[in-house]
Amino acid sequence: MYEEKILVIDYGSQYTQLIARRIRENKTYCEVLKPELLNNVKTDKSIIGVILSGGPNSVSKDNQYDLPDILFENDIPILGICFGMQLICKKFNGKVKESTSREYGKSKLDIIQNNKIFEGLENSIEVWMSHGDSVIKCPTNFSILATTNKEGLSAIKANDKDIYGIQFHPEVTHTLDNGKIIFNFVNNICKSKAEWTTKNIIARQINSIKEKVKTDHVILGLSGGVDSSVAAAIIHKAIQDQLTCIFIDNGLLRLNEKIKVQNSFKGFNMNIKYVDASAIFLERLKGITDPEEKRKIIGKTFIDVFQTEAKKIKNVKWLAQGTIYPDVIESAASSDNAHLIKSHHNVGGLPKDMDLKLLEPLRELFKDEVRKLGIDIGVEPKLINRHPFPGPGLAVRIMGEVKVEYANILRKADDIFIEMLNEKKLYNNVSQAFTVFMPVKTVGVTGDGRSYGNVVSLRAVKTIDFMTAKPFEFPFNFLEEVSTRIINEVPEISRVCLDISSKPPATIEWE
Ligand code: XMP
Repeated sequence: MYEEKILVIDYGSQYTQLIARRIRENKTYCEVLKPELLNNVKTDKSIIGVILSGGPNSVSKDNQYDLPDILFENDIPILGICFGMQLICKKFNGKVKESTSREYGKSKLDIIQNNKIFEGLENSIEVWMSHGDSVIKCPTNFSILATTNKEGLSAIKANDKDIYGIQFHPEVTHTLDNGKIIFNFVNNICKSKAEWTTKNIIARQINSIKEKVKTDHVILGLSGGVDSSVAAAIIHKAIQDQLTCIFIDNGLLRLNEKIKVQNSFKGFNMNIKYVDASAIFLERLKGITDPEEKRKIIGKTFIDVFQTEAKKIKNVKWLAQGTIYPDVIESAASSDNAHLIKSHHNVGGLPKDMDLKLLEPLRELFKDEVRKLGIDIGVEPKLINRHPFPGPGLAVRIMGEVKVEYANILRKADDIFIEMLNEKKLYNNVSQAFTVFMPVKTVGVTGDGRSYGNVVSLRAVKTIDFMTAKPFEFPFNFLEEVSTRIINEVPEISRVCLDISSKPPATIEWE
């Protein structure tokens, strides 16, 4: 089993999570840590390598990130990327030149000394640069491995140790090394046993769940999304009947959601308790138009309903959640960066006074790892490949006050849009698609008469991380067909629009 890991020290680069994912793609477990935690490196025997990320700071202005001696005591292989390389240079008496502007874009890298970090590469490759300061003098007892025209010195190595620094970003796909640099670091230099495989992750998690839970009972808020569904599936594999899932219908779900969830777990024989709480949610939302207030009411009501249901189940000691690794990293980072664009309510959020222990079997996994694991343990691929759906559901897709009749109209229109995406094989090319309801009325002509109906907008985006997004470019005849079907089949709607805004400045959801 994998009892080894690589640490990724996060100095604030936008690419830190990407570095971690690249290591995982090499079947090696890794953790993203804040620089303050570097002091623990010496005592943790499972660490086989450390990567120092890039970041927006300057080593000449800032001493707070100076590397501690302890990092170098056990001869653990180290790779500094960009700012990470500059930290290594500062530590070993190299010279870093300050710059007020950022160098950004492609560069040609010339490898001037063969080394295992560049094994399998041509002598010259295109790499991606994104940095302000640069290294202008090689540290004592280091050699230059590669240069670029623009930068001069672009890769260095300690003469008698596995300490490397590179000025460019091997983790982004614009660096045309085919993933070899990170592969070489992980496999040839850190000598990973490559045991972080889906099969091992499942086996280890099942054991760990059994050991923790023993004969207790576990509850889980099942939303129909990927994370809570995969968490439910793996916990069920471990403890079967000791798990009860609670599926709460808040009246703001997509069309036929309950049936879809039932079908997804057909092969599981799982305890799923379906609770129709739509009346309470819609009652509490009456007259509320402010988006943040709507979110808060839904979050609080979810906890109230969940708690009431949980109390009906005996011997419950554990609350399971589908927390995944990016949530863990982001919540650690958000303590430094408290500015929130929208308050996110996620189904399954911990009811604070429930006095339950937390069970989070996906806490170490990235989304793509969760998906693979889900498929391997038998969750319906259709559920696994579903677009994300926000915790507050249709409430953030109905502008202003939420009314049951609006939700019913929106559900029908949205179902047509999604059905057509599937029919035309576009669903998997889009990262997220949905329909938004506007409580305004516009005139139309149907048959011989004038109609006066509502407006919906289609929203579809292409994105990797959901932090930035571009509108998806549909063929025009597809849009026309969707519009015609919605207006014909949903009589309350007289007009269909298309949202073509990017994020930023717009967000993906409308509220
Ligand atoms: P925005 O609208 O912020 O959305 O661009 C980014 C992604 O997050 C989803 N989203 C949410 N997910 N609870 C969730 O679980 C929420 O309150 C929430 N708000 C937005 C959104 O659907 C998109 O995928």
